[in-house]
Amino acid sequence: MSITQQDIDKMYEGNLKFWDEAWKRVTKPHKELPKLPYIHELTRKLKKYQVKKVLDLGCGSGWLSIFISKYGFNVTGIDLSSPAIELAKTWAQEDNANVNFIAGDLLNLPFEKGSFDAIVCNSILEHFRLDQAKILFDKLHNILADKGFFFGCFDAVGTGKGDYFELPDSTHIYTDLMRQGMMLRNYSDQELRELLSGFDILSFDKNNYGSRLVWARKK
Ligand SMILES: C[S@@+](CC[C@H](N)C(=O)[O-])C[C@H]1O[C@@H](n2cnc3c(N)ncnc32)[C@H](O)[C@@H]1O
Repeated sequence: MSITQQDIDKMYEGNLKFWDEAWKRVTKPHKELPKLPYIHELTRKLKKYQVKKVLDLGCGSGWLSIFISKYGFNVTGIDLSSPAIELAKTWAQEDNANVNFIAGDLLNLPFEKGSFDAIVCNSILEHFRLDQAKILFDKLHNILADKGFFFGCFDAVGTGKGDYFELPDSTHIYTDLMRQGMMLRNYSDQELRELLSGFDILSFDKNNYGSRLVWARKK
């Protein structure tokens, strides 16, 4: 049976639903900083690059946005899930963190050309199909200021347990109960480099878990 574009669109809706439902079950923001060795290096570099306005893509309940804001950057965090954004807003208020949290789909970013000096993201791209990732990177290029910076942590995913079926571009659509509807795609180094063709790649490192840590600058 061949898959139609309508089927694929429905799967994307299923993925959005998966995230929204997953966040609805969370009652407290994830306040503990993940053990990601790059995060201190991240703020150091943002300072070095004289960044002022930062966008955190797929911010979840806000840990990275709030962490960065503590270093004096003007931060906006966006996530499609309203429950996640509500958790993030409450946390920011309690913690006196000045972050602009917005609920929205990354494929429909509500920002004007050149709005940010830097865009950061942790474990996000893996939840988009390849055709969507291309659209996303065009948009990111557009909303970054001239010579703006991009930092992404791109995980190696899709090799663990779970039931799924695979789209022609190798995106997995999970069918097991825990992750029903979630989309996951493993991006190769080459694909990441191609997605960043509008940028100069400043560094491209791999950690012990196979995550790619990439700094790039808009050409
Ligand atoms: C693996 S979590 C990572 C969250 C956070 N960046 C972190 O490091 O903990 C993926 C996040 O992406 C969000 N997300 C998935 N698809 C999205 C989309 N199309 N637009 C905006 N956010 C999305 C989910 O709601 C979820 O919070």
